[in-house]
Amino acid sequence: MTPTNRLEQMIRRLTSQRNCLAFAAEMVVDLPGPVLEFGLGKGRTYDFMRERLPERDIYVFERDVHCRPEYVPADGYLLLGDVRDTVPAALAQIGEPAALAHFDIGTHDFTADAPLTDWLTLAVTPLIRTGGAWYRTAPWRTHAGSRCLCRRTTATATTWSIGSGPSDRNNTKGR
Ligand SMILES: C[S@@+](CC[C@H](N)C(=O)[O-])C[C@H]1O[C@@H](n2cnc3c(N)ncnc32)[C@H](O)[C@@H]1O
Repeated sequence: MTPTNRLEQMIRRLTSQRNCLAFAAEMVVDLPGPVLEFGLGKGRTYDFMRERLPERDIYVFERDVHCRPEYVPADGYLLLGDVRDTVPAALAQIGEPAALAHFDIGTHDFTADAPLTDWLTLAVTPLIRTGGAWYRTAPWRTHAGSRCLCRRTTATATTWSIGSGPSDRNNTKGR
């Protein structure tokens, strides 16, 4: 049933995000490397990932920290600034390619967000280990050697897709 009110829409969106992140965490459980979180926001998904992957280093990219102090990453794990400035030099700080990247710097307007999200997808490519995964909440682009988990919210359903390249675009499951 399509939710018609704001509360149900938010519940569906966050449930989808939680399920995708849980699945992504399972995908990389045997893969070494840190996690990259793009968009600290209120720290919700960061807190989820550090609970799910407690042994992992999690590096967070954020230009404007506005969450409670307990959700702010420790020194050295917050890359403060616009991603267009921080991502190009990030590998030196992170030290090794990541197992998983989660992009959550967008808004509800995928069209307006597309230039930044597409730029980020390409810019993050060298930061993700071969076989690593990334999850973005916008129409996807992918690159060789990584797996992509993508949530799409349409008028009728929230779905997620998983694949290793554009040919897997139709491998979609409802959630
Ligand atoms: C949707 S919120 C993130 C929500 C967060 N993942 C959570 O679960 O609480 C998006 C965040 O991305 C950040 N952001 C947006 N554009 C950015 C950019 N170009 N560089 C760095 N951070 C950016 C915003 O400041 C905002 O905190």
